[in-house]
Amino acid sequence: MTTNEVPKHVAIIMDGNGRWAREHNHKRTYGHYIGVDNVRNIAIKANELGIEVLTLYAFSTENWKRPLEEVNYLMSLPAMFFDKFMGELMEKGIRIQMIGEIDPFPENTKKVLLRAIERTRNNKNMTLVFAMNYGGRREIVRGINNYVEDVRNGKATEPLDEKTFEKYLFTAEYPPLDYLIRTSLDYRLSNFLLWQVSYAEMYFTDVHWPEFTPELFEKAIEEYQTRQRRFGGLK
Ligand code: IPE
Ligand code: IPE
Ligand code: MG
Repeated sequence: MTTNEVPKHVAIIMDGNGRWAREHNHKRTYGHYIGVDNVRNIAIKANELGIEVLTLYAFSTENWKRPLEEVNYLMSLPAMFFDKFMGELMEKGIRIQMIGEIDPFPENTKKVLLRAIERTRNNKNMTLVFAMNYGGRREIVRGINNYVEDVRNGKATEPLDEKTFEKYLFTAEYPPLDYLIRTSLDYRLSNFLLWQVSYAEMYFTDVHWPEFTPELFEKAIEEYQTRQRRFGGLK
């Protein structure tokens, strides 16, 4: 039996902006610029398809290693995205959330992100989660530290089990991850959602993020619907 269902929680590693730009004789930053519009296109499509949560990897804990000029440009993208598309997000009832630690971000970037979360918090359709300064290992270690803190102050008394631990992750309130998509054909997780991916289906495509159209996204979702999920059992 295949799932036939629309996945509740889809995550995408939006990769290949730089390679796309190079192939078209542009600077890497132009690839990111075009990639921003595609975030809008895919989010709108995901909302139409009835996906509950779409989590997008926008900036990893490792992306600080890039040249300062590129990091600065990436930091300016949330403002660009919300300036252009906030009206549409409100109209479609899309709620913005974030996973990761935005403390090290420039003040204005933080302000823009927090404002978007605040403005959209009562929206009832899809939740669009941006992973910002997110690292899967960092998330797990942070969760453990928070649990230890709760033990110290008496808020946690039972030994930690998987269900309880999930409450300490950034993704605590979202449904389990069903489907992970990575564009631009690298077969790795790059520190994304390490815990959550344990039984997620995966989809890798050679298309670079700026060219990953809503039609291709819908095809990827159709592929999910043909998968058999057994979770270790027999079906
Ligand atoms: C993904 O595209 C966007 C971010 C990591 C922010 P890349 O910038 O990684 O593009 P490639 O992988 O160099 O082509
Ligand atoms: C993963 O892509 C991070 C994001 C898409 C934000 P990277 O381009 O940073 O990953 P690596 O370096 O190829 O593993
Ligand atoms: Mg990359």
